[in-house]
Amino acid sequence: MIPVTRSFTPPLEEFIPYLEQMWKSKILTNGGPFHEQLEKELCKYLGVKYISLCSNGTLALIVALRTLKITGEVITTPYSFVATTHSLWWNNIKPVFVDIEPKTLNLDPDKIEAAITPKTTAIMPVHVYGNPCDVRRIKKIADTYGLKVIYDAAHTFGVTINNKSILNFGDLSIMSFHATKTYNTFEGGAIVCHDKAIKKRIDNLKNFGFVDETTVVVPGINAKMTEVQAAMGLLQLKYIDKNIEKRKHITEEYRKKLDGVKGLTSLEDVPGVRYCYPYFPIFIDKERYGKTRDELYDELKKHNIFGRRYFYPLISQFPSYSGLESAKPGKMPVAEKFTKQVICLPIYPTLSLQDVNKVCSVIKKN
Ligand SMILES: Cc1ncc(COP(=O)(O)O)c(C=O)c1O
Repeated sequence: MIPVTRSFTPPLEEFIPYLEQMWKSKILTNGGPFHEQLEKELCKYLGVKYISLCSNGTLALIVALRTLKITGEVITTPYSFVATTHSLWWNNIKPVFVDIEPKTLNLDPDKIEAAITPKTTAIMPVHVYGNPCDVRRIKKIADTYGLKVIYDAAHTFGVTINNKSILNFGDLSIMSFHATKTYNTFEGGAIVCHDKAIKKRIDNLKNFGFVDETTVVVPGINAKMTEVQAAMGLLQLKYIDKNIEKRKHITEEYRKKLDGVKGLTSLEDVPGVRYCYPYFPIFIDKERYGKTRDELYDELKKHNIFGRRYFYPLISQFPSYSGLESAKPGKMPVAEKFTKQVICLPIYPTLSLQDVNKVCSVIKKN
């Protein structure tokens, strides 16, 4: 069976010394030595000024919104994992969905301005599949209208544009280190910021609002990363470059093998961008391919190949959000088209080229 993803686990014997140290020190969480070391090493690896580790990406999003005191309405994309919009709901913020653009499937800057109202306080775009958003144009719009920008960079580990980290754009970026991501700490996440005072506010919010032993300044939450997670993060960092290389190689194989298949398209790399290749989405045009996306998805399953229709349905199509004006059918034609066409094919560092061949031959048999 070929799953859509398989978590990368470093050799177990390399993890044991970290556990031994924890058993000795009895420090398991609350900003212990591994937590501190990982924040430093991630800042260096990612090329960012400040990072606050969190227990997962969803809480990182929720805390990021609280940090900037975002209220009212936030403009966001329907083409993402539900946690992006759920984080707004948890902060009592109204999501306003805006369509995506067809090249990257990210929030379309041309359509943002029309969605701004007096209640809009921020834009929350997603670098979907690790493809950078049009960060310069989004910044220009945000500056013009006095809006904050919080990037959901859950798919974006080590992604750079002209050697500059994508995480340096926007007021804040959040990351996910979930088991299925390019870089994982079992569960985990982080908030990236550019200012010491903001980091202090985040660290305070993620720890119940405590600033010292007896002072609680705000009703914070528990979004702390444990020492076990941080230790896993330190170990994963030793393998990350090799793993990204392997993912790149698999992506190139897919592209080569699927090139010329009628009715099948995939996304292209933009020059100057270093990618982390977290997913390999393909898009099926049923007229030209001769089968619907779902027929191909089922066909792959019959061969024990488990793709994922990621992102389908759109977040705006879930009952929690489908009643919103911005979620109405026909409002986001690009997102509505791609959500019906997408299948993410298996990709993970240990996927063999033989298995890549097998996936491609089922697709091409059609
Ligand atoms: C785009 C996006 N945002 C947020 C999340 C939530 O992250 P986590 O699973 O770490 O809570 C995920 C994934 O899991 C995601 O894909």
